[in-house]
Amino acid sequence: VKLGKNFLVLFSDDRFLSVSSAELIMEKIRKIVEKKGEAKIGLPTGNTPQKIYELLRTDYKDDPVWEKVTLVQLDEYVDADPLLPESFHYQLKEALVNHVKLKRFISLNGKAEDKEKERKRYEEEIKNLGALDLLLLGIGRNGHLAFHEPGIKTSNLVEIVNLSKETKEDNRVNFSQAFTLTLNTILKAEEIILLASGERKKEIIQKAILGAVSLDVPASYLQTHNQTHIFFDRSATGEG
Ligand code: GLP
Repeated sequence: VKLGKNFLVLFSDDRFLSVSSAELIMEKIRKIVEKKGEAKIGLPTGNTPQKIYELLRTDYKDDPVWEKVTLVQLDEYVDADPLLPESFHYQLKEALVNHVKLKRFISLNGKAEDKEKERKRYEEEIKNLGALDLLLLGIGRNGHLAFHEPGIKTSNLVEIVNLSKETKEDNRVNFSQAFTLTLNTILKAEEIILLASGERKKEIIQKAILGAVSLDVPASYLQTHNQTHIFFDRSATGEG
């Protein structure tokens, strides 16, 4: 389905969504590298993309294109130790970074002693890097993208946010704050793919796509972006 300049692509199930997404992501990366000589991509953590990463690190492991790819971490819990599984840094490493030969992995240090200093450092990194070529996103049940939680208004590229009760519950963590790329950074990406899978995401996907553009649902801002594709499976439409 074409929605304005954007596409909604519905897959029959999660497996098909993952296989197709992995293939498409590789194809897009190759095209970007062909055109620009390198690719800057952002990848989320969470459950939704895990099958995609499994395919990327097995079926596409030896693709030489990885050497031209800079990967950016989207978010991290404040106080999470990058060496422990609780951190998104660790999770991204396990999922992909340790398995393919990247040009560069730009990552956050949740354990940084001075968190404002770490925020500024990361913001500098992101600024110097410039717009991401391709950004893969998941969506929180409350409509957050990365950890840009509802209601957060900021002009920063990277922010430290308080996590909502719902987010802490969903992610089963006790961390109360997180570093995150903000909507400002997210919406600068040239191309965005939002992934949603499962019945749990049905309501928020509807709000994000069809509801008012509002900070109450950060993902609704994707309606203002002109290269966003939303990939979801049948269960995320409520049709099971
Ligand atoms: C987490 C992450 C997001 C992720 C989202 C969805 O809180 N900060 O980057 O996209 O929630 O996670 P899941 O795919 O597990 O539903």
